[in-house]
Amino acid sequence: MPLNKTDPIVVVGAGVFGLSIALELRQRAYKNITVLDRMLPPVADGSSNDTSRIIRPDYVDTFYARLATEAIGLWRESDLLKPFYHPTGFVLASEKARDEYLEHGKQVLSQQGNRFQSFQTTDELKSIRPELRDITFPFSGYISHNAGWVDAAGAVRAVAERLGELGVSFVTGPRGTMTSLKTNQDSQVVGVIVAHGPPIPASRVILATGAWTNHYLNLDGAITSSAQPVGFIKLTPEEAHTLGNMPVVDNMTSGCFVFPPTPDTHVLKIARHSHGFETSIAPDSQSERRISAPKRDSNNAAASWIPEDADAAFRKALKQLVPIAAEKPWARRRLCWYTETPRGDFIADHHPSLTGLFVVTGGAGHGFKFLPVLGRYTADCFEGKASEELQRRWKLHVDEDKAPPGPIVCNDGSRRGPARRKLTSVEQAKL
Ligand SMILES: Cc1cc2nc3c(=O)[nH]c(=O)nc-3n(C[C@H](O)[C@H](O)[C@H](O)COP(=O)(O)OP(=O)(O)OC[C@H]3O[C@@H](n4cnc5c(N)ncnc54)[C@H](O)[C@@H]3O)c2cc1C
Ligand SMILES: *[C@@H]1O[C@H](CO)[C@@H](O)[C@H](O)[C@H]1NC(C)=O
Ligand SMILES: *[C@@H]1O[C@H](CO)[C@@H](O)[C@H](O)[C@H]1NC(C)=O
Ligand SMILES: *[C@@H]1O[C@H](CO)[C@@H](O)[C@H](O)[C@H]1NC(C)=O
Repeated sequence: MPLNKTDPIVVVGAGVFGLSIALELRQRAYKNITVLDRMLPPVADGSSNDTSRIIRPDYVDTFYARLATEAIGLWRESDLLKPFYHPTGFVLASEKARDEYLEHGKQVLSQQGNRFQSFQTTDELKSIRPELRDITFPFSGYISHNAGWVDAAGAVRAVAERLGELGVSFVTGPRGTMTSLKTNQDSQVVGVIVAHGPPIPASRVILATGAWTNHYLNLDGAITSSAQPVGFIKLTPEEAHTLGNMPVVDNMTSGCFVFPPTPDTHVLKIARHSHGFETSIAPDSQSERRISAPKRDSNNAAASWIPEDADAAFRKALKQLVPIAAEKPWARRRLCWYTETPRGDFIADHHPSLTGLFVVTGGAGHGFKFLPVLGRYTADCFEGKASEELQRRWKLHVDEDKAPPGPIVCNDGSRRGPARRKLTSVEQAKL
């Protein structure tokens, strides 16, 4: 059924995928848009909420390299978003004298007109970026100049506020928590059933529930979720000053990367772009099915727990990259969830059998940087205006609804470190 611009659209999920498509559709004159979430954005345990996210054009896949370069232009120039962008540069460094991924990445950077500078030794790196003076371990790689980091929570808050100004409604708490999709006898999605109060009707439901998605739809063959560790350390103002505007540094041997301290609060963050951890939970009380996903009804960031092996890897990486922080206590730790897809492609597609449902997710650990352009391209998919390449890339493969034999691990070469590991039941009890 064709959609009128006055018909009600419900977007479930207020992360970067849900907010960006809501904003674009509002700008395309859709008048009745409601965004639901478990909590107000920035959502405490959402993947889009953090002190920082890397903004980089560094991709070996030219499709995402082009899209990222376009997005970075807007991080630099958009009045709404530029206050949150810190163009510090991004160091990709490896112990290998010649790292194929980095070599390939440099070729793509050149093709897209993005500047970078190679270094052969740690001393050479330190002569270019003296803030990294404490690194003593051997390294070679390059500094990507058209790159840096954003205050993710700040950017999400700004986009949510803009949506409010434009008349988009937000519903949170139990009334904003979807328990299931509401369908009619023709398998047509006609709204969402929520944890409190009557169902919320919609002509189109846009599901943007990220790592939670397999709770509500069986997309086991298309997506899975992995938990990734993050650690925060509070520095003194003096310590923070010595690190200053250091670039984001990624040890492309261990996968661990560090951000410069936050400007006002002096919090240094370490994370790992790797294969993460899996859980095994039932999507609902009746189901025999088991999924790897965060819980729906509690704040998954409250525990401040990460697996011991991840903690040890962080301590080792801090000693190597920012010794000044290595012995300091954690201010906070959390597991943050990636929505994994087989090739790292996002999903922005109408569900092939549940009419009225559009699915937009699959950030695969690299979606945040695209916030400024994501809405435009996913809304093109929603309106059936997307290029053939975009439709192919972001297709929802529900025919793969059986989980593949191995875990869904998308690795374009940017992920390093240990293989995916399933958390033991003792570990899962700590979440
Ligand atoms: C540790 C970590 C580091 C990362 N680093 C980078 C980086 O450096 N650069 C980069 O570009 N990307 C990075 N990413 C990836 C990026 O953050 C994600 O791709 C992106 O944030 C995903 O957005 P989303 O909207 O799909 O998910 P989310 O932000 O998680 O949004 C989904 C929302 O759905 C809501 N929801 C779920 N179930 C329901 C329900 N039943 N009812 C109502 N609402 C519901 C949730 O509350 C949540 O707010 C990183 C991710 C992580 C976890
Ligand atoms: C939006 O749609 C809902 C559901 O049909 C309806 O109840 C509501 O009045 C509409 N709001 C506006 C502003 O048109
Ligand atoms: C995420 O969001 C919550 C609530 O909006 C906030 O309190 C929290 O500090 C945020 N940041 C991180 C890094 O989790
Ligand atoms: C990078 O990580 C590897 C693996 O943990 C480690 O051996 C190496 O010393 C690290 N290098 C730097 C400079 O951090």
